[in-house]
Amino acid sequence: MLQQAVGDIGIVGSLRPFTRQVHIPRDCHDHRRADSLTSLNTSYSNPLLVGTAIRAQLEHEVPQDLPLEKDFREDSAYTITDHVHQLHASLSKDPRTLQLITSLISHLHAFARETQFTHSEWTKVVAFLTRAGKESTDFKNEFVLLSDCIGLSALVDEINHPKPLGCTESCEPGPFYTEDAPEIPSGSSLAKAGTTGEAMFFSGTVKNLKGEGIKGARIDVWQADGDGIYDVQYPGRTEPNDRGRIVASPDGSFNYRGILPTAYPIPSDGPTGDFLHLLEGRHPHRASHIHFTLKAPGYDDLTTALYPSHSPFLGTDPVFATKKSLICELVEERNPDHWSEMGFKEGEVQGGRVWVWKYNFVLATITEVEQLQRARATKAL
Ligand SMILES: [Fe+2]
Repeated sequence: MLQQAVGDIGIVGSLRPFTRQVHIPRDCHDHRRADSLTSLNTSYSNPLLVGTAIRAQLEHEVPQDLPLEKDFREDSAYTITDHVHQLHASLSKDPRTLQLITSLISHLHAFARETQFTHSEWTKVVAFLTRAGKESTDFKNEFVLLSDCIGLSALVDEINHPKPLGCTESCEPGPFYTEDAPEIPSGSSLAKAGTTGEAMFFSGTVKNLKGEGIKGARIDVWQADGDGIYDVQYPGRTEPNDRGRIVASPDGSFNYRGILPTAYPIPSDGPTGDFLHLLEGRHPHRASHIHFTLKAPGYDDLTTALYPSHSPFLGTDPVFATKKSLICELVEERNPDHWSEMGFKEGEVQGGRVWVWKYNFVLATITEVEQLQRARATKAL
C-alpha cells in the first residue's frame, strides 16, 4: 500500500518509475507509525511542504522518515550520541556496517567529551583532513601515511594476521611492492650491476613450528639500495632492481646476493609530515630494512621485514613496523675467499667487506592462525 502511495507522489516535471524499494519501518504495524507514514507521503506530494529540489531526488530514492519522538541534550539521560545511534539502528540493514559506524561514533563523541573539544580545534582538524585529501595522489596517499603514523595500520595488521608464539611476526608491506619482480634462482644476485651500496649476502630458511623445512616456499623480497632509494623512485626506471622471487630448496633454505639497504624517510612534505612535527621529536625516518612475503600451501601468508641492529631509528619508526624479534645481528665478512664461496665475482665487493645477514623464518599453518582468530573473536565478545 505504501509503495502504491509513493507511486502517486506528484513530482513536477517527470514521472520516471522508481527503481528502488521503499524502506518500510520495522514497526510499521504500529498505528501511530502508519499515521506518520501517511503524513510523510502527504508531505512528499505537497509542493508547499517539499520543494522542487527534494521532489527531484525522489525520482531516485524515497527515504524513510521517522518522527522526532525524543529530545536530546548534553547532560541529560538521552544525548546526541544516543540519538545518532537510535537513528542508525532504525535505518541500517547491514549488521557489520551498523556495528562499525556505531562504535566509531561512540569513540569520536567520547573523545569530544573527554577533551572538551573546542570549535576552533574541530575547524583545524577539518582543515587538516581536507588538506590530506587534496594532497593525496596515486603515488602518495596521505590517509594511508596518517594511518601508518598513528599505529592504526600496524594494529589492523596484528588483528588480521595473528601469529602463534614462535612464528615470525608480520608487519606492513609499505608502498614499494611491485608485481614485476623477476623469478631468480636461490644463490643468485638480487641487485643489478652498478647498484649503489655495500655488498650483502642474505641466507635464510623457511620452517614451520615443528622445525620442519617448508619445501617449495615462495619468497618475495624487495628492498631499497645503499642510498635508501627503491628502484621505483628513480625516474626512467626500465626494469626491476633490488627485488625478486625465490623458491626455497627442499629443506626450506634459500640465499641471495645483494646490496645492504639503508634508512630512508617516508614522505613528510604534506599534512602527515606536519602531524609528526606537531608531536615534537617524531621524525619521518625508517630504519633500514628488507621486505619479505613468504607463501606456501597450507601456511598463512607472511608479510614482514627484517632490520639490521646497526641501523638508526629502530626505536622511533614513524610507522611502528619495527619489532624486536625482526632485528638481526649482521656479520662483516672480510675474507675474500669466503666472498667467492658466496658467489661474488672478483671486483664485485667494494669497501673490503660483505655484510652477512641470516634469518630463520617460521610460518604458521592456516589452521593455527584460524584457531587464534577464533579465540580472539570469542574474547572480544
Ligand atoms: Fe620499505
